[in-house]
Amino acid sequence: MWLTWRAAMEQALYGENGFYLRECPSGHFRTSVGASPAFARAMLRELVAVDGALGHPPVVDLVDIGAGEGGLAAGVLAVAPPELRSRLRVIGVDLASRPARLPEEIGWAAAVPDAICGLVIANEWLDNIPVDIVEQTADGPRLVMVNVSDGEERLGERPHEADLAWLARWWPMRATGERAEIGRPRDEAWASVIVRLTGGRAIAIDYAHPVDDRPPYGTLAGYRDGSMVAPVPDGSCDVTAHVALDSCAFAGECAGAVTTTLTTQREALRALGITGTRPSLDQARSDPRGYLLALTRASEEAELIATEGLGGFGWLAQTRT
Ligand SMILES: C[S@@+](CC[C@H](N)C(=O)[O-])C[C@H]1O[C@@H](n2cnc3c(N)ncnc32)[C@H](O)[C@@H]1O
Repeated sequence: MWLTWRAAMEQALYGENGFYLRECPSGHFRTSVGASPAFARAMLRELVAVDGALGHPPVVDLVDIGAGEGGLAAGVLAVAPPELRSRLRVIGVDLASRPARLPEEIGWAAAVPDAICGLVIANEWLDNIPVDIVEQTADGPRLVMVNVSDGEERLGERPHEADLAWLARWWPMRATGERAEIGRPRDEAWASVIVRLTGGRAIAIDYAHPVDDRPPYGTLAGYRDGSMVAPVPDGSCDVTAHVALDSCAFAGECAGAVTTTLTTQREALRALGITGTRPSLDQARSDPRGYLLALTRASEEAELIATEGLGGFGWLAQTRT
């Protein structure tokens, strides 16, 4: 069956027996959430700052969108101080069903709540929102169609006007043969989060590229069992494409965001106290056990901020008051 990439991804990831409805993400790839508990500790610092800026309301939301196995929500809840914890309303949002063994205090929903006052985190959510792919021809962009059973491709129709306008603004292609991933569904998904934010901050973290440095042939990729595989949209693997976070930022501003910060995970986590600093060798002599613990923690932190790895992810933070 031949489909556009957006339809094929939708079916492969979220259709009947789709990859994400069937599989545990952690069995196939490593995110910051699984890399280290330091990530949840940093998010707690972010939550504490948001709570302070909101004036410590009676209820403060923590919404984890694309929560997967719920590890981030559970991690933040576990380290939250009792007073904050007593005011927290924690919700994991995912199309997949509620994970087993999630603490009872964590709610679970398939859709983003209508009103959120607090902190929203979407770690590696937007890259899994299906997108169409286009290829530049002598007559302009044409949709790429894919055979869902083997990943073979052929060219289809001209994209809709709204998509052509998005391409012209956010991903202009130059040479014949170049490809682009139309980020409009991600913009809309992100805007739908910002619209629901009555106060506080929303953060999207993902592989990203800026408008002046888009990859000329796109970033579509597949992952299965910890390895990169051909992105065949037959439900057997994750299918993902990096995110034009700058266009999501613009969509968020149009939806009401009053501040926008677009930076890297490295910079954002360093500002939250994640440094990856190794313990001193003196400690190895005076407190060998403490030294080993500190060394483990430092190497986990280093993984979170490594420039060539997770630290290179884009961080889009937007607030509403
Ligand atoms: C790569 S996983 C990220 C898991 C987790 N955030 C982490 O960092 O480990 C992406 C998740 O987004 C979920 N997802 C994708 N589109 C969604 C949507 N429209 N609404 C809710 N969840 C969605 C998928 O089901 C999947 O669990």
